[in-house]
Amino acid sequence: MKRSIIVGNWKMYATSIADAHILATTIRNKVAPVIGIEVVLCPPALWLPEIKNILGDNKKILLGAQNMAYEEEGAFTGEIAPSMVAEMAKFCIVGHSERRQYFDESDQDVNEKVLAALKHGITPIICVGERKRQNNAAEPTRQLAAALYHVPKKYFKDIIVAYEPIWAIGTGENAEPEYVAKVAVKLRELLHTATPILYGGSVKGSNIAGYAERPEIDGVLVGGASVRAAEFIEICRVWSNSKNFKS
Ligand code: PGA
Repeated sequence: MKRSIIVGNWKMYATSIADAHILATTIRNKVAPVIGIEVVLCPPALWLPEIKNILGDNKKILLGAQNMAYEEEGAFTGEIAPSMVAEMAKFCIVGHSERRQYFDESDQDVNEKVLAALKHGITPIICVGERKRQNNAAEPTRQLAAALYHVPKKYFKDIIVAYEPIWAIGTGENAEPEYVAKVAVKLRELLHTATPILYGGSVKGSNIAGYAERPEIDGVLVGGASVRAAEFIEICRVWSNSKNFKS
C-alpha cells in the first residue's frame, strides 16, 4: 500500500516548553487512533527530547528536526550535528524555503545535508518549490536534481520530497491539487516509484481533502496549521477518511 505521510513543521512556534508539551500531548492522544497515516512532528530542536518522551514508543507519530548541519562536528557555533539529530529523530526537513531565503542555504548546502542525513540513517524531507506562480515544474525539478546530486539511487526509497511553492507558504493561497499532481508526476521522474511526494503550502482542514483525493500526492507538509492542535488533528482525520483506510 502507498504510504500517507503528514508532517507538522512547527517552525519557530510553540515557543515555551509548556506550549510544546500541550500541543504534542494533544496530538498524540487524538492522532494515535487515526488509521493509515504516518505522522512526523518537527518541533524546534530544543524541544526534541521532551517531545520524544511524550511520544514514547508510538510507531505512528515520529519525530523530525527542522534543520541540521552537514559537518560531522567542529567549531560551528549554534549548529546541530547529524549525529545529534539521529539520536532524537528519524527525519529532518532539508532545504526548506525559509532556510534557503533567510539563511542563504544553497542547492549545494541542501545536497550536502541530504548526503549527511542518509549517512546517519535520517530520512531527509527535501523541500523544493518555485518563488512565483508558474505553469511548469522547471524550478522544483532543478532543485530536486541538485539535492540528489551524488546520492546513490538505492537511497531514493529512503527520502521524502515535499513540493512547497513559496507563493503558497503561509499566504493562505494553496496550490490547486490538480496542479500539484502535475508537478508531482514531473518530480517522480527523478525518483523511485516508492518515494513519497508531499505537498506543502497553506494546507488546512478545509482544503486537505482535495490533496488526499489525488493518487500522485502521498501526504502533506503542514506549517502554520500544525501548531493549532484541533486543525492538525482535523487534517489527519480528513486524510485518513478520504482514503477510506480499513483497520
Ligand atoms: P504553511 O507552511 O502550511 O504555513 O503554509 C508550510 C511550510 O512552510 O512547510
